[in-house]
Amino acid sequence: MFDINTVRADFPILSRQVNGKPLVYLDNGASAQKPQVVIDAVICGYGEEYANVHRGLHFLSNLSTEKYEGTRAIVARFLNAPSEDDIIFNSGTTEGINMVAYAWAMPRMQARDEIVLSVMEHHANIVPWHFLRERQGIVIKWVDVDANGDLDPQAVIDAITPRTKLVAVTQVSNVLGTVVDVKTITTGAHAKGVPVLVDGSQGAVHMAVDVADIGCDFYVITGHKLYGPSGSGAIYVHPDRMSEMQPFMGGGDMIREVSKDAVTYNDPPMKFEAGTPGIVQTIGFGVALEYMMGLGMENIAAHETALRDYASQRLNGLNWINVQGHSATKAAIFSFTLDGAAHAHDISTVLDKKGVAVRAGSHCAMPLMEHLGLNATCRASFGLYNTTDEVDVLIDALELCHDLFA
Ligand code: ALA
Repeated sequence: MFDINTVRADFPILSRQVNGKPLVYLDNGASAQKPQVVIDAVICGYGEEYANVHRGLHFLSNLSTEKYEGTRAIVARFLNAPSEDDIIFNSGTTEGINMVAYAWAMPRMQARDEIVLSVMEHHANIVPWHFLRERQGIVIKWVDVDANGDLDPQAVIDAITPRTKLVAVTQVSNVLGTVVDVKTITTGAHAKGVPVLVDGSQGAVHMAVDVADIGCDFYVITGHKLYGPSGSGAIYVHPDRMSEMQPFMGGGDMIREVSKDAVTYNDPPMKFEAGTPGIVQTIGFGVALEYMMGLGMENIAAHETALRDYASQRLNGLNWINVQGHSATKAAIFSFTLDGAAHAHDISTVLDKKGVAVRAGSHCAMPLMEHLGLNATCRASFGLYNTTDEVDVLIDALELCHDLFA
């Protein structure tokens, strides 16, 4: 286990005040704060080492290329991907899933072909499939969660029919914290000949990920939730699926030769990385992943499990708070409403006055909110630097809300 005070000292923003109170940052599900090593990497990347990648033969371009490409091996190690060639860089999960929709699914799916999604997907893993529904007539099949917010892997496997071309599920719900058994889903889907996309945006933040063990075809991560810069991200693609993909965006870097009449493409993964990428963001992303691996993913998971248990006990001890999702193995993500008429936005505004940052709204998960019969919740999502003392500050602030709004 790591020393939490040492870890907190790595994140300069955590020592600031908000509204005259010490910051209690519980909006990690939306975006995580950055350790000094990542901030330094970004400053150095622009201040001392910046040039475009893959294009120049000069010193700075070579240095920038080396550091940028070095991140590919870091991502592969973080995900336990067999090869760094299985890693495509992008700007984050939204681009990653859109790429799968355009580059892999669109050429392979006809009208009435099906994709299986869980009801708790983030919009980033819903809207690209609506594009295919609208444009190509594919069918989205939804699998519900149970009263605890758990997703039965067998229900996902049972939803597969001969028309199913892809299963796309999150590993951890950004609203409920539910951890999905993506390995069982992948094994069952593969037995029926259907590939699986795992949205690891939240999952990779909270637990060690092993794509070789899961066996999935696509695994998507986003840098800004992994304590790295926004505008960075990556997708692991199994080589068999990579070979089936058509280029998604055209431009520089992804080509080998272009003439007036023809174009040939670079080898994967660069075949799927058009244009000048987020160079410094990606380098910072690699530094963030090294930081997490340096702390130890098992240590991060153990720390957050202890936080989850403490927060569960405190939140569940207040009978005027309605926590959504009670999965026994959930991550430290709590969405809740308060008895009475107060809107989640009003609650979050009061919490903010106490220095507590949470997200309020539908959390880019409207089908799940519809399933829950809610318009909005407050969400406290914990990260590796949060403490049980901060849980106490949250509870005190919620008690104030209860007094104000009950
Ligand atoms: N996906 C982010 C969230 O859950 C934005 O808040």
